[in-house]
Amino acid sequence: MFLNRVILLVLVIIGTLENFSSAAKFKTTIFDDYVYGDCDNQPENVLNIKTAFDTSEFIIHNDVDNVTLSGNLTSRWDIQKTDRLEGIFQLHYLDHGSWQPTMYSIRLKNVCAVMYDKNQHWYKAWTSHIINIDEVKDNCVNVPGTKLIHEPFELVFIFDLRTPIDTNGLYRLFIAIAAYDESSRKRDTSICFTIRVQFEKID
Ligand SMILES: *[C@@H]1O[C@H](CO)[C@@H](O)[C@H](O)[C@H]1NC(C)=O
Ligand SMILES: *[C@@H]1O[C@H](CO)[C@@H](O)[C@H](O)[C@H]1NC(C)=O
Repeated sequence: MFLNRVILLVLVIIGTLENFSSAAKFKTTIFDDYVYGDCDNQPENVLNIKTAFDTSEFIIHNDVDNVTLSGNLTSRWDIQKTDRLEGIFQLHYLDHGSWQPTMYSIRLKNVCAVMYDKNQHWYKAWTSHIINIDEVKDNCVNVPGTKLIHEPFELVFIFDLRTPIDTNGLYRLFIAIAAYDESSRKRDTSICFTIRVQFEKID
């Protein structure tokens, strides 16, 4: 809680300072070898992408200029549809061999409520490319067997960053999702995964 306030305060201060300088647009690109990244030193009850989903029908296609994703991710996280999923999304950078958080971090109280929200970064980058949305949107990722069918897409996040980012640096998106039952008890299993990204300035 305290840490959240500090982060918020830092963001507010930075936001205020940044009104004096303009934002720059950056896009991220991904690496085919690092789509299924793990979180470091996690206990066994923390699932990664490959254990939370059946990825056998998911295709990572490395083109000359880009990495294209397609095919299916089938949820196998064995929790309940009525669970509330809480998520932490962070941008990390690699500093002398260890991953450090940047100030870019959000915490979502209810991931499923915004999974297909058109205003979210991940909608543009990911969930808008799920072609059977109508069938699966009520299942979020907490109904085992739910198959998310993807059209071919590039996982690209566009960020307006007001603080310059080192485009030579190595970054990763860190995503941790915990589930809570109807009595707000945390489930034994959770998900944590990372995706290595590189930033490119686009204007
Ligand atoms: C994805 O699932 C659909 C529907 O079940 C199936 O027709 C298609 O072949 C699957 N894609 C791959 C790459 O296996
Ligand atoms: C990425 O690759 C796909 C598939 O070959 C292609 O259609 C698309 O134009 C490429 N995108 C860019 C930005 O090069």
